[in-house]
Amino acid sequence: MPQATFHFPRGFLWGTATSSHQVEGNNTNNNWWVWEQEGHTVHTSGLACDWWGGRWREDFDRAAESGQNAHRFSVEWSRIQPEPDRWDEDALDHYRQMVRGLKERGLTPLVTLHHFTDPLWLSDPRQGTSGWESEEVVGRFEKFVRKVVEALREYVTLWCTINEPNIYALSGYMTPAFPPGKNDLKLAMRVMANMVRAHAAAYRAIHEIQPEARVGYALHYRPMVAARPWFPLDLLMRSIQYRGINLAFPTALAEGVMRSPVGSVRIPEAKGTQDYLGLNYYTMDTVKFDAGNAAELFGRRFFPEGADLSDTGFIANIPEGLFDSLKWAVRTYPNLPILITENGVECADDHIRPRYLAQHVHQVWRAVNFNWPVKGYFHWSLVDNFEWERGWTQRFGLWELDVESQVRRKRPSADLYARICTENRLSSEMVEQYCPEVMETLFPA
Ligand code: FCB
Repeated sequence: MPQATFHFPRGFLWGTATSSHQVEGNNTNNNWWVWEQEGHTVHTSGLACDWWGGRWREDFDRAAESGQNAHRFSVEWSRIQPEPDRWDEDALDHYRQMVRGLKERGLTPLVTLHHFTDPLWLSDPRQGTSGWESEEVVGRFEKFVRKVVEALREYVTLWCTINEPNIYALSGYMTPAFPPGKNDLKLAMRVMANMVRAHAAAYRAIHEIQPEARVGYALHYRPMVAARPWFPLDLLMRSIQYRGINLAFPTALAEGVMRSPVGSVRIPEAKGTQDYLGLNYYTMDTVKFDAGNAAELFGRRFFPEGADLSDTGFIANIPEGLFDSLKWAVRTYPNLPILITENGVECADDHIRPRYLAQHVHQVWRAVNFNWPVKGYFHWSLVDNFEWERGWTQRFGLWELDVESQVRRKRPSADLYARICTENRLSSEMVEQYCPEVMETLFPA
C-alpha cells in the first residue's frame, strides 16, 4: 500500500462556512422569512440552528475542538438595521460577542456582509420587490457596511462583501427559486450591476475605516464542458451559459466593465476592488443544445451519466472541477490570493462526504503545489442548516442536526476534517481509514 502525505503551508486557513439566515433562526424581518411563509420553500427556517438563541457557542466549540482555525459567517442586515433609520445596537453587540467568541477559541473570523437576505424595508416579496433593482441600494449598503465595520473592526480584518451575487440575481430573476421570483434577464443584469457597484463602494468604505482590511466577495463558480465538443451548438450553449453564470462579476472587477450575454455595463469604480478572490465551488456541469428549452436560452445543464451524486442529485462529486476553477482564478487574477469560501456536499448518512472532502482537499493541495496563492479552505458547513428553497431536505453539515430537538451528532467526516485541520495535511492513512474507496485514485500504486 503506497504511503504518502500531502502537506499544506504553515498558516493555511481551515474552517467551515455558514450564513445568518441559515443558522440563526427567527429572522422574521427579512425577505426570506416572508418568502417561506408564502409557501415557496419546502420547509420554513424556524429556529434554524438556534444561533441567535446562543447555540453558536457550542458550535464554535465544536469547530475549535476539531482543529479548525477560521470560520466564515454572515451578519444579518435585517437585525442590525430593522428600519431604514434605526440601528439595533443589541444586535451589533451580539455579533461582537460572536467574533470575540471566535477569537477566544483561536478561530480567525471571515465576516460576510450580505448573504442572500435583505431587510423587509429593502426587499418585500409581498410587493414583488427587491431593493437591488434600484441604484439607491449602493448608498444604503455602504451605510450598513460602515456601521458593521466600525462595530467589529477590533476583531475582524477579513471581510466578504457579498455572497454569490450571481446566484442572488439569477435565482431571483431567472428561476423562481429565490425572492422576488421574477423572470427577467435584463432585470437580473441590472441587479448584478448594482451589486458590483455596492461591492465597490463597500470595498472603499472598509479600507477607509480599516486600512489593513482584506476585502473580497464570494463567487459561485461553475466550470462547464460541452456535451459533444465537436458539435458547434453545444459549444455555443456552453459558452453562453458559462459566461452568463460565471463571468459578470469577475470581468467587472478585472476590467471595470460588467460583461454579460445581454450586453455590457461600464462600472469603472469596480476595477481592482478585491484583496482576495473568494471561490465557492460545489460541482461542474455538462451543457447541451436543447431546442425545447427556451427558458434556459436553449441550453441544458446536467451531470454526466454514472456521476457520484449527492442525496437529492444536487451535486455531482467532480473534484477536478475545483482544480479547473483555481486554474481559471490564477489566470484571471495573477498573484491575487484565493480563499475557497465554500465547498461541500449534501449527504445525510455521510457515505459520500468523506471521499468528497478528501478528493477536494487533494485538488487544493495540487494547486498549492503549483505555488498558486490558495490561502484557505472553508467547508460548507459546520452543522446541517436551512438550505433556502430546498429547506431541510439537504444536509451539508459535518455535524448532523435534529431540527426539532436541536441535538447535534457528529458525522465521521467531522473526524476526518479534524485530522486534516489539526495536522495541516491529508495522508494516505486518513484516506485508508475514512474513504478507502478512493485510495487508488489519490494514491495510485
Ligand atoms: C451556496 C450558498 C450557501 C449554501 C450552499 C449549499 O450556493 O452560498 O448559502 O446554500 O450553496
